[in-house]
Amino acid sequence: MSLLECKGVTRIFDANSAAFKALDDVSMSIEEGEFVAIVGRSGSGKSTLLNVLGMLDVPDEGEVLFEGVNVSTMSDKEKSVLRNKSFGYVFQSFFLEPEYTVYENVEMPLVIAGVKASERDERTRELIELVGLNDRKDQKTKKLSGGEKQRTCIARALACKPSIVLADEPCGNLDSANSAEIMKLFRVIAEQGSAVLMVTHNEDDAAKADRIMYMKDGSLSDERQ
Ligand SMILES: Nc1ncnc2c1ncn2[C@@H]1O[C@H](COP(=O)(O)OP(=O)(O)OP(=O)(O)O)[C@@H](O)[C@H]1O
Ligand SMILES: [Mg+2]
Repeated sequence: MSLLECKGVTRIFDANSAAFKALDDVSMSIEEGEFVAIVGRSGSGKSTLLNVLGMLDVPDEGEVLFEGVNVSTMSDKEKSVLRNKSFGYVFQSFFLEPEYTVYENVEMPLVIAGVKASERDERTRELIELVGLNDRKDQKTKKLSGGEKQRTCIARALACKPSIVLADEPCGNLDSANSAEIMKLFRVIAEQGSAVLMVTHNEDDAAKADRIMYMKDGSLSDERQ
């Protein structure tokens, strides 16, 4: 049984009143602790796939299975618990609270999850250390560089020890040195047991993953097309 899997997933959007398949019969799976990259051009359907796999969107056809369970059989409550507990989301545009410090941003999911204060403090400090932001801990995130913001996002995504981290173009705003640091961090995360699924148009970043898949016009393949 795979950690996360999709079978025959199709997602259809209306484009100028014509049906457009953003995802066309996509099947894939990812195992525990694996670091996988999906590469594709802009508009190929990468974010659409990540949203479906991350239970932020629902496919028109096909199914998504988390630890073998079809997510369409879950209630909204069950899905929201799973999203909080088992998924970590990292997006290009950060979605940090700008007026909150690094510490407060990283701590937030633990507050929401009802983790008690002493445990929260320990976990938050451990995560900030992991992403190398000890010296920025009390800085408001609006004052961070792009790379520091992204590292804060990654620490936050890891707060509740997710089974899988979904990263949508995590280095889109970063230079190559910062991108390399983020890829190293994903490697560490995978070694610690969380799977990482990253979508990107950047082949150099993707080359750091254990496995690469290719997305083109809504179709996913193991080989470049
Ligand atoms: N909500 C929507 N309604 C209509 N069309 C959409 C919607 N979301 C995405 N699309 C279309 O589906 C296609 C795939 O979009 P998607 O965002 O998945 O691409 P992407 O590979 O992530 O691109 P990028 O690299 O630019 O982020 C695009 O043609 C896009 O315009
Ligand atoms: Mg995208």
